[in-house]
Amino acid sequence: MEVIYVKDYEEMSQKGFEQIKKVMETKESPVVSLNTGGTPKGLFQYLVEAINQGLDISDATIMSLDEYIGPKDAVYTVRNFMNQRLFNNIEQQPKHLFLMDGSTDDVESEIKRYKELLATYPRDIQLLGLGTNAHLGANEPGTPFDTTMFLAEHHESTIQSTMKEYGITREEAPTEMLTLGLKEITEAETVLLLVSGKHKAQAVKDLVEGEVTPDCPASVLRNCENAVVIVDEDAASLLTKE
Ligand code: PGA
Repeated sequence: MEVIYVKDYEEMSQKGFEQIKKVMETKESPVVSLNTGGTPKGLFQYLVEAINQGLDISDATIMSLDEYIGPKDAVYTVRNFMNQRLFNNIEQQPKHLFLMDGSTDDVESEIKRYKELLATYPRDIQLLGLGTNAHLGANEPGTPFDTTMFLAEHHESTIQSTMKEYGITREEAPTEMLTLGLKEITEAETVLLLVSGKHKAQAVKDLVEGEVTPDCPASVLRNCENAVVIVDEDAASLLTKE
């Protein structure tokens, strides 16, 4: 695992975007799997600008890390986020867009369908954010490292983060999510984790200096040579060995 220290959210977004851009520019049929939430908003802006200035995505496949269980048009869905922050704002579209369907009433079939896509389109890069409890995707503490795509239940801190991020009540907030498992997350050629903010500092400390254990899901990345973690000063503020 390589850790890159940057000043702030802005620099994290820019450096993260550069990694995605490199994949888009150097791979013949790039497969880029994105995530959503507060962390990648800045990166998405860089991506929109670059695409509209000519970054070619016509052979690219875009996939997603996870999807909330709920109606497709709910304010919190990954689909909605991707449409609002990326696809509605760009002048060319990728060759394929493969999102999960969190509105399905047949979760098992949806997992099977998406796993087949993962096998057909090996990912060049997987973008990630870090939970305050060190989750990756919806792999909450305690999830075994060899887990594959599943229907996850959110821990309370995750529900609170979703409420805050989307300005919704506890009743409106989704409590379950389809998510890639930790095994699939680490199988991407490059695994890119972005982290910003003081509220993530303990999770970063656990990730970088703590034990490698399912109690800290992100610690699965510690022994991954293909993992790149970009951390800003606030998120790194509890590290002792920087
Ligand atoms: P955030 O969420 O980017 O909104 O902080 C990250 C996560 O909880 O996975």
